[in-house]
Amino acid sequence: MRADDLRAIAESFEVTRLPAGFHDNPFPVYRALREHAPVKRMADGSYFLTRYDDLIAVYKDTRTYSSDKKLEFKPKYGDSLLYEHHTTSLVFSDPPLHTRVRKLIAGALTPRAIASMEDGLIRLVDTLLDRMHDNAQRNGKVDLIEDFASAIPIEVIGNLLGVPVDEREPLRDWSLAILGALEPVLSPEVFDAGNRAVAEFIDYLNGLIARRRAQPGNADTDVLTRLIQGEPDGEKLSAKELLHNCIFLLNAGHETTTNLIGNGLVSLCEYPAQRARLLASPELIKSAIEEMLRFESSNQLGNRITTQAVEIGGVAMPAQTRLTLCIGAANRDPSQFDDPESFDIARGPNRHLAFASGAHACAGMSLARLEGQVAIGRLVQRFPNYALAGAPLRSGRVRFRGFLQIPATLGG
Ligand code: HEM
Repeated sequence: MRADDLRAIAESFEVTRLPAGFHDNPFPVYRALREHAPVKRMADGSYFLTRYDDLIAVYKDTRTYSSDKKLEFKPKYGDSLLYEHHTTSLVFSDPPLHTRVRKLIAGALTPRAIASMEDGLIRLVDTLLDRMHDNAQRNGKVDLIEDFASAIPIEVIGNLLGVPVDEREPLRDWSLAILGALEPVLSPEVFDAGNRAVAEFIDYLNGLIARRRAQPGNADTDVLTRLIQGEPDGEKLSAKELLHNCIFLLNAGHETTTNLIGNGLVSLCEYPAQRARLLASPELIKSAIEEMLRFESSNQLGNRITTQAVEIGGVAMPAQTRLTLCIGAANRDPSQFDDPESFDIARGPNRHLAFASGAHACAGMSLARLEGQVAIGRLVQRFPNYALAGAPLRSGRVRFRGFLQIPATLGG
């Protein structure tokens, strides 16, 4: 694309009015912004950041760049349950609430705890692969989201919080509805659905928490028991903090991981030479997952607010300026990645920002990586000729990049 075209794209960019084709392929727009307006002012006075180094600088400085969203969410959500939820969860809070909750959650997601989940995960994935095989025999094709990618995180997080298997069904819809309300544009329908989902979720969790209080689980591995009990001799979470952080945890590991698996499987179809490479060298699965996270990051946007006057990339801004951090753009920044628009499953180094960085870096990243490695690694080896059976259906979201359906055949 010519420099003039890129400049025009950058100049007209507005996150609430996205150009046609953006959802299918936002990367030319991200490139235009990186090159011509890397700190781009939006009509509402916020800034949209696309350069790798700028994102790193923001992530590292939690004093200057706050995660607290009360100011931003009040006008958006008013006095609603969505407001209460999104302003009480750790991801959208600063110390001391953030430190307290993070410590409790991180303590249950240690490398040892995660390694102990691997056998169960392999069994789950193999069961789903068997089921897909039977489905494909009957119907000719399967849906890699419905039949596979979305079924994995729901079981994993369900196990982590000890949600009984037969009570997990509504979790996915609640999660989609609550996270959907974080999109830059919020329709009344999405707002209502989000609030309804928080209400139903709270209702469900009140019962689950009461049962767990009566019968605590093993605090080393059961996150809900940890969150209920708090640190030994430390502070405990209030009832409201407990509820909203359970909801957050269920949501955080859900759509994001579904999208990692779905996006990765589609990328392998679009880049057959890379798939052949993975088939020939299965040990590449770890770097392949990192590349999938970089190339088609399931979480494309993050947000911060300035606590004091700052300058980013030569642009001066006052305190209380809202920032959107574009992970999808930073992950293709040529100043950090050689040949960033190419999909290379053996890429190294690969210091992508798919899990963000700094104090709020994803607390579930090791678990997400393991889910991706087991799910994609085993599917590719079991069905080496799987193929798309029609165009995958995009979710149409900007913040969370992924598919709602991926029709596929499993090959001979
Ligand atoms: C591919 C899958 C995943 C991706 C791409 C992802 C991405 C992210 C990102 C970008 C953040 C930082 C948000 C910010 O500060 O702006 C985050 C935070 C978080 N994620 Fe993940 N995540 C994934 C899976 C998971 C899983 C499986 C879990 C839990 C089981 C999880 C739990 C969390 C938690 C608790 C936080 C908040 C950390 C904090 O604020 O200190 N995530 N995630």
